[in-house]
Amino acid sequence: SLLSPVITIDGPTASGKGTVAHRVAKHLGYHYLDSGALYRLTALMAQNKGVALDDEPAIAALARALPCRFDHGHVLLEDVDVTDEVRAEAIGVAASKIAVLQEVRKALVDLQVSFRNTPGLVADGRDMGTVIFPDAQLKIFLTASAEARASRRYKQLIEKGISANMENLVKDLIERDARDSARTAAPLKPSPDAIILDTSEITAEQAVQNVLEWFAKTQKSA
Ligand code: CDP
Ligand code: CDP
Repeated sequence: SLLSPVITIDGPTASGKGTVAHRVAKHLGYHYLDSGALYRLTALMAQNKGVALDDEPAIAALARALPCRFDHGHVLLEDVDVTDEVRAEAIGVAASKIAVLQEVRKALVDLQVSFRNTPGLVADGRDMGTVIFPDAQLKIFLTASAEARASRRYKQLIEKGISANMENLVKDLIERDARDSARTAAPLKPSPDAIILDTSEITAEQAVQNVLEWFAKTQKSA
């Protein structure tokens, strides 16, 4: 329901949001929202339909009726499995271009809020704690150095058999961070009530344990 507890995990690219949020959700038996996937799917849809990435009304229309489904870790767009395709670095860059458009962000609000169901939700993205779930029980902002994040993304791509170039990755990452932070619509920044966790020197599992401990404390004081 709309009152189910929410944990938000925001942060820049490859800070570990997805990995940490997914594992925390699994531990708690909560639902999981990968909000970045919605921006990626909208960008992929625009690309497939030949819609320019700065055509705000047209992209907002695509976002408002996004024909996507999430099924056991698989992402489907118009019934086609696009799980790997949406994770491509080029789609991440395209997603960050359409994510500056206010109408597109508005078009995705209801869909994101609809993920809040019993017994609870873990949501990751850029504005989960600041805009979409301002009343969340626990807000986390993950950070890590640009070097740590670029080498994580590199490893992830190589493990999936996708060729990657470290120099281009660092360049994309810095460009995407800058665009996400500088935009006026829901810029990437920690909510004033978020806990900031730097993951440069810790494992994903340590980050998960931290989040679970902090969440247990909020449950005790509630
Ligand atoms: O969702 P986001 O782009 O923030 O990052 P991710 O795809 O969840 O994580 C990037 C990679 O960093 C994954 O392969 C993680 O296993 C790894 N990692 C991490 O998430 N946290 C650490 N503290 C160390 C490594
Ligand atoms: O996994 P990674 O952190 O690289 O990217 P993502 O979370 O899948 O998000 C892709 C892009 O979508 C980001 O660079 C943002 O520009 C945008 N995004 C956003 O604006 N707001 C969100 N809540 C989630 C993603």
